[in-house]
Amino acid sequence: MSENFSYRSYVADEKFLSEYNSYQRRYAQTMRESDKVLVAMVKEIARQTDGEPLDLLDIGCSTGNLLLHIRSMVPGLNLTGGDLALSSIEECRRNPGLAGIKFEVMDLLALPAACFDVVIVNAVLYMLDDEQYRSALASLGKCVRPGGTCLIYDFAHPFVHQQLTIYETSVLHPDGLRLCFRPMVKVEEAAHRAGFAAVEFHPFDIPIDLPPAPYDGEVVTYTVDRKDGKRAMFRGALYQPWCHIIARRSKSE
Ligand SMILES: C[S@@+](CC[C@H](N)C(=O)[O-])C[C@H]1O[C@@H](n2cnc3c(N)ncnc32)[C@H](O)[C@@H]1O
Repeated sequence: MSENFSYRSYVADEKFLSEYNSYQRRYAQTMRESDKVLVAMVKEIARQTDGEPLDLLDIGCSTGNLLLHIRSMVPGLNLTGGDLALSSIEECRRNPGLAGIKFEVMDLLALPAACFDVVIVNAVLYMLDDEQYRSALASLGKCVRPGGTCLIYDFAHPFVHQQLTIYETSVLHPDGLRLCFRPMVKVEEAAHRAGFAAVEFHPFDIPIDLPPAPYDGEVVTYTVDRKDGKRAMFRGALYQPWCHIIARRSKSE
């Protein structure tokens, strides 16, 4: 039953992980547009710290692509990749292209305390139910040092009273995947409760066309032109309100 989806089965689904990781490999060469935004945010944080070496964690790092790009575009950071999927961490450790980056099996819901200046959570939180979501944010709030920043890429929309949970079955997820679409106000409330002082939302305006997906194939993101010149991102029949979220802890706590 799809409603029984658990991130624990997701990270143990070796067939899915191997297909997802090979899909991801294309982005080791060509950076994903949403990742360019994250790298620019990291660059800005590094610029503001006057060359102090920052400790950065990408939790749910999968194949380590984002860290690869951060290493080349924002040099001088101490980089760690964490994922609950052991096979992904082992693959990262074996990849000579990721030399110099530390990789550890880590659970987003139980991160070590006060260890990082920047923590990135890229396309992971949407699969958590409300209770897990609160635990994940509490874990992030503790893991980010005072004065530090959490950068999130996730679904967040402006409709204050609309909380959506969709169970999607597809070729890659025959047993179902949970997709939660949370209102920005709820995300902000949860982030404040977790100890973040300030939260910013940057709805992602993808600057390129992604080709239409075949109706009978895997569900991947494609774009549809909007009348205002922007592009709406869909997966199959579903609109995706992707958003970059910056949550900052205050320095004095
Ligand atoms: C959709 S993928 C996103 C991967 C990568 N961040 C990206 O944007 O391409 C979700 C990733 O989160 C990992 N993951 C899921 N639940 C996790 C948890 N509780 N702790 C750490 N990683 C988790 C999965 O193993 C997978 O690598």
